[in-house]
Amino acid sequence: MQQQLDELKSSVLTAISNAASLPALDEVRVGVMGKNGKLTAMMKGLGALSPDERKAMGQLLNVVKEEIATAIETKKADLETAALNAKLATETVDVTLPVRPETHSGRIHPVSQAMEEMLTIFAQMGFELADGPDIEDDWHNFEALNIPQSHPSRQMQATFFMDKTVDKVLRTQTSGVQIRTMEKHKLPIKIVAPGRVYRCDYDATHTPMFHQIEGLVIDKKTNLANLKTVLTEFMKLFFETDDVTLRFRPSYFPFTEPSYEADVGGVLARAIGKEWLELLGCGMVHPNVLRNCGIDPDEYQGFAFGCGVDRFAMMKYGIPDLRSFFDADMRWIKHYGFMAGDMPNILTGLSLTNGSKR
Ligand code: DAH
Repeated sequence: MQQQLDELKSSVLTAISNAASLPALDEVRVGVMGKNGKLTAMMKGLGALSPDERKAMGQLLNVVKEEIATAIETKKADLETAALNAKLATETVDVTLPVRPETHSGRIHPVSQAMEEMLTIFAQMGFELADGPDIEDDWHNFEALNIPQSHPSRQMQATFFMDKTVDKVLRTQTSGVQIRTMEKHKLPIKIVAPGRVYRCDYDATHTPMFHQIEGLVIDKKTNLANLKTVLTEFMKLFFETDDVTLRFRPSYFPFTEPSYEADVGGVLARAIGKEWLELLGCGMVHPNVLRNCGIDPDEYQGFAFGCGVDRFAMMKYGIPDLRSFFDADMRWIKHYGFMAGDMPNILTGLSLTNGSKR
């Protein structure tokens, strides 16, 4: 039996080292140690031996079994590494190849595209980027913006409140970033703050989450004429036409005085049979707001504006229903989406790659 065992061991070790694949190796393992394997059979045969022989032979069998198991494990690791390397070798990607639009199905969402275009223009005008949290406290979303508790203007925006005990809301506007910036930024200030905002509202032109860009300029002499110039230039660049006129309609926001709503006229309005389209809110920052941030309103002044990015995207790309933005419909995104990698810039045009124009 000893000799039989030696022969088995050497033939199995040879078979293991010759195994060319994982299935082949497994076949060897089953042939030796499986239910009907040769080694298993010898183990079963121990019962027929005398107690002394059984003990001696049992020990030998166990040693050989260990050796074979180790050899199998080692070979298995080698084969796995080789298989992985072979796979990696065939799966290389040539990153220098150009993107092929027809096989490239991912799209940039029109809101992301509009956001990029808008920020590109403001960056070129010298605005810095600022941001704040989506979950905002009462001070930044309301109080410091001259909207005290119980003031009727709190009702202007249907707020999503968090648990009343934590003094937090989902921000209803990006205007809170004005406060955050004035609290810590050194003067003068010239920022834009993009972000998500939330209101309890839902119809063709309102969704519970939408996007705004807030603008704020504070220095010693910035005035309404500057606001008008910035916004007019911005509109021309964003809508890529000189045929835009802006009208400033007196309005009310608690954090600006005077306050305006800017309407756009020209080609955009005419395209849908109107004379004017409501565009955004703006005004000169209210002295109370400056004071709330520790800025002396006798020394500093400035303007602010806040616009809905989704609305700008609807106007520029001709998308009729706001709700469709958030339906995650592949046909919609294929039609209205933009190609990745085509980043908007002032030099080559902002929207030449609009998916719907391809
Ligand atoms: N926060 C206002 C809104 O969400 C928009 C707005 C109006 C922002 C006037 C401003 C502003 O900065 O000056 O309706």
